[in-house]
Amino acid sequence: MSCTAILVGSGGLPSLTAFDDHECTLATPFGTVLSAPRIGSIKDQQVIALARHGASHSVVPHEVNYRANLWLLKKLGAHRVIATHTVGAIDATLQPSALVLPEQIIDYTWGRQHSYSGQNDLIHVDFSVPYDRALRHALMSAAAATGVDLINGGVYGCTQGPRLETAAEIDRMQRDGCTVVGMTAMPEAALARELDLPYASLCIVVNPAAGRGRIRESIDLDALNAARVQGVAAADRLLVGYFEP
Ligand code: HPA
Repeated sequence: MSCTAILVGSGGLPSLTAFDDHECTLATPFGTVLSAPRIGSIKDQQVIALARHGASHSVVPHEVNYRANLWLLKKLGAHRVIATHTVGAIDATLQPSALVLPEQIIDYTWGRQHSYSGQNDLIHVDFSVPYDRALRHALMSAAAATGVDLINGGVYGCTQGPRLETAAEIDRMQRDGCTVVGMTAMPEAALARELDLPYASLCIVVNPAAGRGRIRESIDLDALNAARVQGVAAADRLLVGYFEP
């Protein structure tokens, strides 16, 4: 049976909370996974849902054990990973609650455990195209079938967090070519590649990035939460459509 893992970011996903979500610690050779993977099926496909930040959403982006999470999903038999992320919009055409399927990544994180490769097993994985083409294509098809707007393409700039960026940092990221900014796609996407797991990021825009909003000085956190609720509902509809035959 085909098995898809969903790495669920901030905001959760309503249709995947049918099973109990409980705090636990699962040991892996790379440390502990903090939330129980929920294993179920949708339309004859096995689905494993894992809360990236733990069941009570307490793990900050730079402290997520990305290696343990991905390793566990592989061990449980996942054939591919769809990851959800909330992001800020650098590209001014992206509105809050929009869904984006980026095709490239720039990594600005530091100090995270970012590889399974050790002293005795040096691997240089090809990462020219970080997101899996077939999986992105399937998600675009699901969007078309469900009538959910999904913006195809863009560059995910991954920052360290947990603080948001300065306006000057966002200016620099825009010059680099980033269209959205988030804190969790890396090293997640690279670790998935090391494990040979096709991976795609389904991004939910929740705010204009720093210095890009109507009020230039600060990010409106109430508006951010409202956009997250709306974006998560759309992402959820799209994902249920993904599992339709
Ligand atoms: N910056 C970084 N990460 C984010 C943002 C942002 O503006 N919004 C949601 N996640």
